[in-house]
Amino acid sequence: MKAAIKSLPGYQTIRKLWKPKNARQSLLHQMPKNSIGAEIGVDQGSFSQQILEIVKPKKLHLIDPWEYQEEEVYQVARYGAKGGKNQENMNTRYQNVVNKFSAEIASGQIVIHRDYSTNICSHFDDNYFDWIYIDGNHLYEFVKQDLELYYRTVKKGGFITGDDYTEGGWWQGGVKKAVDEFISKGVVRVIWLRDGQFLLKKN
Ligand SMILES: C[S@@+](CC[C@H](N)C(=O)[O-])C[C@H]1O[C@@H](n2cnc3c(N)ncnc32)[C@H](O)[C@@H]1O
Repeated sequence: MKAAIKSLPGYQTIRKLWKPKNARQSLLHQMPKNSIGAEIGVDQGSFSQQILEIVKPKKLHLIDPWEYQEEEVYQVARYGAKGGKNQENMNTRYQNVVNKFSAEIASGQIVIHRDYSTNICSHFDDNYFDWIYIDGNHLYEFVKQDLELYYRTVKKGGFITGDDYTEGGWWQGGVKKAVDEFISKGVVRVIWLRDGQFLLKKN
């Protein structure tokens, strides 16, 4: 019986919408379809793929320098000694993302910016994005900068979201600290903070 229901046309789509697998997917289901968004911190593009499938954005900006960081503090980060290994490996990840999304890049749906989020921000107009997802450098100062700089670029009523809103981690709770401080400024409304995801709405 279960197998028969699962094989019904449209079942998979309805199931995804009705019962999202986890908080990240649930967050994506809150983003408007056909919207303009950005993912800061792309790595191998696995979440970017989910964005494409769930949000179906009109335009998706993927921002990442794919640069190996040798400092001790980044050792276990995905771009440090253990997670990133070396620059050659980071170059391969970048190239794999370009290959993976070659059709979307060619159509103009995806734009890749190989640079640090702070360098790229000035390229975007005020009130340009419907939503942004912050998942780049997790250290406090960097998340604080991402929140403060990109705030300008998000529409009123748009979403400022991101990952790893937790205590601890190699980033020593930097994401949570920066997000909590940002919330305390009163410029966003908290939709939810759960399972490491933050979902804020610009006032
Ligand atoms: C946790 S991974 C991103 C994972 C991805 N969002 C996902 O869910 O599959 C962090 C990424 O942030 C990138 N990154 C580090 N510093 C950055 C910065 N200042 N601006 C943008 N991206 C940065 C790293 O190169 C790395 O690929």
